[in-house]
Amino acid sequence: MKVTKQEFARRRSKLMSMMEPNSIAIIPGAVEKTRSRDTEYPFRQDSDFYYLSGFNEPDAVMVLLPGREHGEYVMFCRDRDPAMELWHGYRQGPEGVCKNFGADDAFPVGDIDDILPGLLEGRDRVYYAMGRHADFDQHLMQWVNAIRAKARTGAHPPGEFIDLDHFLHDMRLYKSAAEQRVMKRAGEISAGAHVRAMQICKPGMYEYQLEAEILHEFANHGARFPAYNSIVGAGANGCVLHYVENESQIRDGDLILIDAGCEFEGYAADITRTFPASGRFSDEQRQLYDIVLEAQLAAIEVIKPGNHWNQPHDETVRVITEGLVRLGLLKGKVSDLIEKEAYRDFYMHRAGHWLGLDVHDVGDYKVGDEWRLLEPGMVMTVEPGIYVAPSNDKVEERWRGIGIRIEDDVVVTKDGCEVLTAGVPKTVAEIEALMTEAA
Ligand code: GLY
Ligand code: MN
Ligand code: MN
Repeated sequence: MKVTKQEFARRRSKLMSMMEPNSIAIIPGAVEKTRSRDTEYPFRQDSDFYYLSGFNEPDAVMVLLPGREHGEYVMFCRDRDPAMELWHGYRQGPEGVCKNFGADDAFPVGDIDDILPGLLEGRDRVYYAMGRHADFDQHLMQWVNAIRAKARTGAHPPGEFIDLDHFLHDMRLYKSAAEQRVMKRAGEISAGAHVRAMQICKPGMYEYQLEAEILHEFANHGARFPAYNSIVGAGANGCVLHYVENESQIRDGDLILIDAGCEFEGYAADITRTFPASGRFSDEQRQLYDIVLEAQLAAIEVIKPGNHWNQPHDETVRVITEGLVRLGLLKGKVSDLIEKEAYRDFYMHRAGHWLGLDVHDVGDYKVGDEWRLLEPGMVMTVEPGIYVAPSNDKVEERWRGIGIRIEDDVVVTKDGCEVLTAGVPKTVAEIEALMTEAA
């Protein structure tokens, strides 16, 4: 299942092959972040750093030097330290990084000030994600300035900085076979968690109890952390797009919107399902639900190579506007309402985003001024919704406070797409059947 060492090596080679001659790339890893006093958040490696190294320790810095005789891949990492390791766990140390992670050369990160200026000296260009790591930006400038200060003695400071993101993020957009396998597993585990929440849900429970079921299912399958904070919104809470309080009691008659996905082997899943607390949709809930589902299926239908990024979104706008007119929540001609973006009172977000190591993954959505064409290996979410604000007095009262989103993850294939999160039902009939069976 895991991405192999060979694949990490291929990624580094590919990046180096795109770099100009006589250049250097510097990619800092993540550092630990304090949660309270002397307790840290669970460590999460920087996605770019992980993509190129597979190395999961804090305080590391990767340096790539294409064409360097003594090794192109240099790593700075935490040194071995028996006392620290006794308290905090095993460290690879420079030796381990060379032996197990393919580095040609590795040094304790404490020596970086002495060594990195020497690696920068004489290189014409530096590839670096400027502005993303404030502390590291400053260090880098100090190292460059140290070389500039010695220019009179013949030192040759780099003259050009090039944005690394542009190259690296384009690579990350195309998922390899191994990445797709991992993402499929992330999708399966997350789908199982949504099924579990539907099966267990009863009016009277609290939103956090459903969140607990979801997290249990993730962790129980080796995905210890969610890819983002889980959203469990009952009733009108489902209309708050980023509701994460998850503290209300669930009432009979509520719809429950759950947006939750696990992180597995570094990769995110991102699923939303909306279902009735009681196991039965009301008429109003079902009518709006069926529009969202129709919009989602119409969007998935147009995800194929050659179509562009915005086509699925356009489909969702069309189906949702038509549906809201049919039910009387919007009044007017569909084409005018689309033109005026009248649907935005009910559907105010995009139909999806790239998905990968980050839940809102990297990669450009436009090339120049044009929407990007879809190509095999790209992974994206499809997540239309309808949210009728409780305060929307332009619609009949019976529609107010209903929030619905349906979200799946899909990978573009040679001739269409594959849904990675199909393991959790989404038609009204399937959801009601699952919940009846579980009751
Ligand atoms: N869960 C975040 C999103 O759906 O984009
Ligand atoms: Mn999403
Ligand atoms: Mn989501």
